[in-house]
Amino acid sequence: MAAKVVIAALLHTVVGYTWPDSRTDYLETILYQQTGYRQEEMAFAVVPCSRNIFVDREKRIISAEWFRTAYHDMATADVEAGTGGIDGSIGFETDRAENVGTAFNGSTGFFVTLQSARGSMADLIALGAQMSLASCSDGNMQIPYRAGRIDATEAGPPGVPEPQQDLDSHTASFKKQGFNVTEMIGLVACGHSIGGVHGVDFPDIVDHDLEGDERQDFDQTVAHFDNVVAKDFVGNISQNPLAFGHNHTTRSDARIFNADGGDLIHRMAESNDFFIDTCKDLVERMLNTVPRGVELTAPIEPVVVKPDHLWITINDDNTKTLGGEIRVHGSTSPSARRVLILVRGQGGGLTGHNVFARTRDGLEGGGLYPNMPTFTFYEFETTVPAAFAISFFAVDIIGPNGFRKRFDNNGAGLPWVDAVIPQIHDTSCRNLESEVIEIDENNFFIIITHTLRLVAAMRDAGFEKLVLSVPRPVEMPDTLAVRFEQEEVVMDKVDGFEGSGYARYEANYSFKLNVLGPMLHYDLIAVGPNGNTTNAFNPWKDLRVC
Ligand code: HEM
Ligand SMILES: *[C@@H]1O[C@H](CO)[C@@H](O)[C@H](O)[C@H]1NC(C)=O
Ligand SMILES: *[C@@H]1O[C@H](CO)[C@@H](O)[C@H](O)[C@H]1NC(C)=O
Ligand SMILES: *[C@@H]1O[C@H](CO)[C@@H](O)[C@H](O)[C@H]1NC(C)=O
Ligand SMILES: *[C@@H]1O[C@H](CO)[C@@H](O)[C@H](O)[C@H]1NC(C)=O
Ligand SMILES: *[C@@H]1O[C@H](CO)[C@@H](O)[C@H](O)[C@H]1NC(C)=O
Ligand SMILES: *[C@@H]1O[C@H](CO)[C@@H](O)[C@H](O)[C@H]1NC(C)=O
Repeated sequence: MAAKVVIAALLHTVVGYTWPDSRTDYLETILYQQTGYRQEEMAFAVVPCSRNIFVDREKRIISAEWFRTAYHDMATADVEAGTGGIDGSIGFETDRAENVGTAFNGSTGFFVTLQSARGSMADLIALGAQMSLASCSDGNMQIPYRAGRIDATEAGPPGVPEPQQDLDSHTASFKKQGFNVTEMIGLVACGHSIGGVHGVDFPDIVDHDLEGDERQDFDQTVAHFDNVVAKDFVGNISQNPLAFGHNHTTRSDARIFNADGGDLIHRMAESNDFFIDTCKDLVERMLNTVPRGVELTAPIEPVVVKPDHLWITINDDNTKTLGGEIRVHGSTSPSARRVLILVRGQGGGLTGHNVFARTRDGLEGGGLYPNMPTFTFYEFETTVPAAFAISFFAVDIIGPNGFRKRFDNNGAGLPWVDAVIPQIHDTSCRNLESEVIEIDENNFFIIITHTLRLVAAMRDAGFEKLVLSVPRPVEMPDTLAVRFEQEEVVMDKVDGFEGSGYARYEANYSFKLNVLGPMLHYDLIAVGPNGNTTNAFNPWKDLRVC
């Protein structure tokens, strides 16, 4: 009985979620698959909270840099005019005095490796802040994360608050950003709970010698997101350089913390729970400040049963092999759980093929800090006649004691496009060649040529041509972020797959880029007189290297 209850509790369906979701699935993976099988390389950079992944300067803290980056991107918002907010414009603004430091190119240069047609720089900036605070609070503070931010293609107006400005200008600036005096006090205290002031960048505030990389921490727990910044201030512990620094002009935190007579900062000092609750609200608002017209999704919850990396291979004996992975939330006794895939044919009602998906050692994953879901992945593979036209599939989770739950998009079925399919095993491949271009003795840059050699199958009946469509990353001046430009190539019909009901197509596609990353994908569009069928967002990285 107990096992049944446990499994049932884990498999609550996320209300309103339909698979696949083009706005959230990619970012959901980055947010929740932090370690283990199919891990995405983002959260590791801020776990533990004190981590520095760069070698240029010793005293960098990536979590603090990601949080500060999100604030500086947002801080130029004008909520009444409906402009600015988290839109990635910070990437174009790194040469401004108000954005001094390594944080901004450090962050965008990291995030660009994960940027994709379904993951904007702005969404990654917000996610970076969300993850940093989750890590720095040991999983205690997890801000609901929404997606849908749209990237700016140029710099915005200046206006990030600076420490030498007076309280009136800070009050006016925060008002423009959508925060009143109480909220300004709260948000600054939240911001200055991690990290500190670097002497190299702020020599008027923190003394430094030319050799070292001094950082004066904002509080006594530099890599913990907690109320110690408020406690230290109230306790007159002269740690925070923006509150007790030798330079009175730049004591902006002191002026701000006292702007309401010290009321809020005292309450934050008294209770860490109150501090966390206050910050959760304020930082959530900060991250969700976007230009008018941008619509964010609902908060991204871990998907309970998530298919991924589905593939179909056309065999030379008039069959096709179907395969893929199912990620199931919860690691409780995965061996006692059985995962059944039900593949259903078009018009065939319930006739079709059932196959069990299996897990093995190493197919687990989850979060790098507490209070995160864990996952077990199940793999499946089955062979059907090539003529069998798939309509949809469903996943049954079968537990002990008669527990059985079906995941099928609330009856509609999980869609599986089989009219047009990339041949990701053996035949297709990708390549990456880099070339170093010297400008002079000390300066060079690297141009990377990315090549895709794609083989695909398209059903003979109902279509006229097959289009390979690639969101090509394009560099922009003054920022490390990229934008995407959709490019289309009509694929060549070649010999092959005779008798299977499919025709074989090939195309070669390549482009040059001089930044590392982003995540590359491609769509296949079968174009026909009665409309198009698209097999979207296939990762380049699922292909072998040529
Ligand atoms: C009047 C408002 C503010 C002023 C004048 C201000 C000023 C500063 C200064 C001078 C630094 C040192 C940066 C460095 O040396 O790398 C800093 C660091 C930082 N600020 Fe602010 N800040 C303000 C508001 C905020 C807010 C609202 C947040 C976030 C909600 C924030 C987050 C941070 C973080 C996380 C750091 C640490 C960066 C690191 O250690 O690399 N700040 N701030
Ligand atoms: C700021 O707004 C909050 C509500 O969000 C309110 O509780 C607080 O009193 C306001 N502070 C000021 C100074 O208006
Ligand atoms: C204090 O900071 C201000 C603003 O950065 C600067 O103009 C001034 O020279 C500094 N004073 C000292 C004594 O460092
Ligand atoms: C805070 O500390 C400073 C220097 O250590 C001292 O001059 C000042 O009187 C103290 N203030 C309070 C309120 O204790
Ligand atoms: C950040 O990178 C951009 C794009 O390469 C560059 O134009 C800008 O000068 C860099 N900023 C800093 C502070 O290095
Ligand atoms: C793609 O490139 C490969 C290697 O250069 C070549 O053998 C093949 O014929 C090309 N295919 C097409 C469709 O251009
Ligand atoms: C089908 O796809 C092609 C190629 O992308 C496009 O030009 C065409 O407009 C699409 N047709 C429909 C009906 O969406």
